[in-house]
Amino acid sequence: MSRIVLGVTGGIAAYKAVDLASKLRQQDHAVDVVLTRAAEAFVTPLSFSAVTGRTAYRDEDLWQGGESILHVELAQAAELVVIAPATADFIARAAHGLADSLLGALLLSAHCPVIWAPAMESGMWQHPATRENVGRLQSFGQRVLAPGEGHLASGREGVGRMPEREEILVAIEETLRTPVLSAVRVLVTAGPTREFIDPVRFLSNPSTGRMGIAVAEAARAWGADVTLVLGPTEVRPPGGVHVVPVTSSAEMFGAVERELGSTDVFVATAAVADLRPANRFEHKVKKDELPGSLELERTRDILAYAGAHRRPGQVLVGFAAETDDPEAEARRKLQQKHCDLVVGNDVRREDAGFGVDTNVCTFVTAHGAWQVGPATKREIGEEIMAFVAQRLGR
Ligand code: CTP
Repeated sequence: MSRIVLGVTGGIAAYKAVDLASKLRQQDHAVDVVLTRAAEAFVTPLSFSAVTGRTAYRDEDLWQGGESILHVELAQAAELVVIAPATADFIARAAHGLADSLLGALLLSAHCPVIWAPAMESGMWQHPATRENVGRLQSFGQRVLAPGEGHLASGREGVGRMPEREEILVAIEETLRTPVLSAVRVLVTAGPTREFIDPVRFLSNPSTGRMGIAVAEAARAWGADVTLVLGPTEVRPPGGVHVVPVTSSAEMFGAVERELGSTDVFVATAAVADLRPANRFEHKVKKDELPGSLELERTRDILAYAGAHRRPGQVLVGFAAETDDPEAEARRKLQQKHCDLVVGNDVRREDAGFGVDTNVCTFVTAHGAWQVGPATKREIGEEIMAFVAQRLGR
């Protein structure tokens, strides 16, 4: 059983969506129907709630207020969004990210796959504007079914009929069966490193590894094969993930170097120590014999190494934990380390940074920057996976 949002927009085929909703319910799916204002000219929420056994939402519900934010709640719960029928107008709106309706806002908040079942007159379907809009939806990784041929509302024959119910059901089944990042190999570094001076003393930092663990969990939930190279931490790593425990930055470097050749996506969240003692004592040094100062040397930059050796098509994501101007620093690291995305965060904020569960981030790519959060680290992980999926054309 899956939780599916069925978006119904304003076309004559809207009445067929009642039948589709009914069939999905019979297949044991929980179906949240969201109607646009135009759809209500053709069908009523009552028709849908009667066949789904659940509330069917109207556009007005976006403005209902109250404790929860409806479009975000529905989007987060959804494993799949299906828009059937999808009018030319609504396709155009979604292709440009308009959020002036409950369904539009929901689509912008959703991380799950989206299937479109277009229905319109042939001329509208073939118009260059619609072609371009459909192309945009596809570039977001969304699936647009081809409309069928036959009798149209205008009385003419042509292409533009909503795909048959069976075809939509097959697409739904296929999508639910294949997770978005299936067969994608994701490598994540997380946690601090320890740079030992002698067997009982080391240099380290306050990282707990939570951010990287959340990224690994999100990647696994998206169907990826995940390897987590994890520095010393008390936080338990997630199940279903291949964990490579490491202690020092040199070990972390070695583990990543071994994995990189077979990695599609590398997400570096680890707080790797930048310096280590130039000499390590094999035996515990007595207090009185400790040197007054330590000679230190730089460690190798793992992400920069990955950036310098990246394979074509490989996606690299870095982090930048900063106290000053996270966006500018993230942009600098994006260029220096040849990344596709750098997630900058301000570690001075109380709701962000080391040891807390939430984060406020700035996502920086070559094409722009946007803020994510305050959100849980898991939600940030989901956003990263959404970016990765798009990069990989999933
Ligand atoms: N990183 C890494 N290996 C290192 C240092 C950093 O892989 N030896 C990665 C981190 O995991 C993170 C990114 O590089 O994804 C940025 O790390 P950060 O410590 O913020 O930056 P530095 O490169 O150390 O730069 P600076 O100290 O100048 O801020």
